[in-house]
Amino acid sequence: MNIGFINGEYINADEAVIPIDERGHQFGDGVYEVVKIYNSLPFLLDEHLTRLKESASAIQLKLPYSLDDIKKIILEGIKRSELLNAEVYFQVTRGIAPRNHLFPNVSASFTMTIKPARKVSEQSYYKGIKTITTKDERWANCHIKSLNLLPNVLAKQKANNEESYEAILIKDGYVTEGSSTNVFVVKNNTLYTTPLTNNILSGITRKNVLKLAQKLDVEVLEKSFTTEFLISGDEAFLTSTTVEVLPIRSVNNKVILNGDPGPITKLLHESFRQLYAE
Ligand SMILES: Cc1ncc(COP(=O)(O)O)c(C=O)c1O
Repeated sequence: MNIGFINGEYINADEAVIPIDERGHQFGDGVYEVVKIYNSLPFLLDEHLTRLKESASAIQLKLPYSLDDIKKIILEGIKRSELLNAEVYFQVTRGIAPRNHLFPNVSASFTMTIKPARKVSEQSYYKGIKTITTKDERWANCHIKSLNLLPNVLAKQKANNEESYEAILIKDGYVTEGSSTNVFVVKNNTLYTTPLTNNILSGITRKNVLKLAQKLDVEVLEKSFTTEFLISGDEAFLTSTTVEVLPIRSVNNKVILNGDPGPITKLLHESFRQLYAE
């Protein structure tokens, strides 16, 4: 069953209704996380909970539950859903109060949904996906996992309109990240990814892929790169909780090398899958 959690209660997610004065709905005034469930177990949950706390703190939002209690709510939800492979989205907003930009004097709201995991096609993994580049039109605090996703939504739709899977965002001539992914390129056996600043989200998958690369003796450089550098790479891929490690075939219709997923991309994806298969 698709599980929802709202006002401290588990319900059928398909019946959940958000109150009209909910600030997440009216202002996007909140933060969120998504966690994958493999074989009924949440993957890298503690890292996601830590990031939720950091995002909340960055917008002066006090979580309505402790991280331990949120963990319990999630584990109970997974049990109730009876799903083996799922995705859990949870949001914390500044609560429900009559419309006013100022912070209301109410406690924060916590909502959650647990639904079957959306799957990227197998073909995407063995052929790689098409991407486009587009201007990064987001705000100055992209390290916060905020509910405000309008520029990301517009960029992703633009990619889709151009028969591509992801939009890679460009700020001041450099790649920041994808609309919902981090971006990596391999050139001369070195793995490059954009360094952590306020311009990108510190992806949990990114962090774990970097750890794996170091373990596997792949040289890593956290360094900004341009679209031209990306296209001239030997391999490239995207990472996120949802897509894991997803090879990029082309950028703006320019194929990277012969387009097929490269050996380092495949090795990192295989090693990443081992983390939850263990
Ligand atoms: C803008 C953005 N960058 C990167 C990511 C990847 O982060 P993670 O690996 O933690 O899912 C996401 C995931 O939702 C995202 O929205």
